[in-house]
Amino acid sequence: MKTQINGITIAYSDRGTGLPIVFLHAFPLNRTMWAQQEEALSLQFRVITIDLRGHGESDAPLWGYTLEQSADDVNALLDHLAIQQALFVGLSMGGYILFAFYRKYAARVKGLILADTRAQADTAEGKDGRFQIAQTAYKKGPSAIADIMMPKLLSPATIQTRTALVQQVRAMIEGNQISGIAGDLMAMAERLDSIPFLSQITCPTQIIVGELDQATPPSDAKLMADQIPNARLVIISNAAHLTNLEQPEAFNQIVAAFASDLAKKKHS
Ligand code: MLT
Repeated sequence: MKTQINGITIAYSDRGTGLPIVFLHAFPLNRTMWAQQEEALSLQFRVITIDLRGHGESDAPLWGYTLEQSADDVNALLDHLAIQQALFVGLSMGGYILFAFYRKYAARVKGLILADTRAQADTAEGKDGRFQIAQTAYKKGPSAIADIMMPKLLSPATIQTRTALVQQVRAMIEGNQISGIAGDLMAMAERLDSIPFLSQITCPTQIIVGELDQATPPSDAKLMADQIPNARLVIISNAAHLTNLEQPEAFNQIVAAFASDLAKKKHS
């Protein structure tokens, strides 16, 4: 499905009924990374997946990329779908957007699942790295970005043995436009440090991380779990950064258990 939001076309899927769960994807992927979550969880819940601006079937304008802008897009989509409150699941960049979303729209957040993400801002070196990746995208195109990203996203064992999954992730990356890739890199480089903000998160929060995640390692997840009041943490074995794709059953079980608990809680 598609709708006009904040001057651009945003694509999304909306399947199932019950507690709404909104999934925000990683960089530089799209909403199809959640296909197995949508399939399993929409039997019990209302699952909404979004192509964030710059990705998939959504527009990739030349400028207008900040994490706050993406948070505004999500907020406008919720208005469009007449959803007051939801459980939000953000993986990596999706998690960065959730910090921006919670800052502005906390009343809409019934619960948070922060997967393979981190609260720290980029270091000076990290920002420089993003600029170099944007230059590579500009000069060599999205397939060069896929070459850089694959070892950060999937574990060595997955890369060696799970050809179909590797192809699926590569195709998602190669489907991006340069404007979307560069826009995201700039947005992530400019993001705020969310560490001081963690203690103000008062909704139920679940943190998930792959034991082999090097992009946002378990130490980053533990930091969030220590500082967000009452947050729960699960470390998924045999998974790197894209835990939902490498270990979908384990990931789905955690989301389903958390969402079922949340659905029992009164409207807050
Ligand atoms: C992601 O998976 O969204 C990215 O690895 C996040 C990042 O580059 O910081």
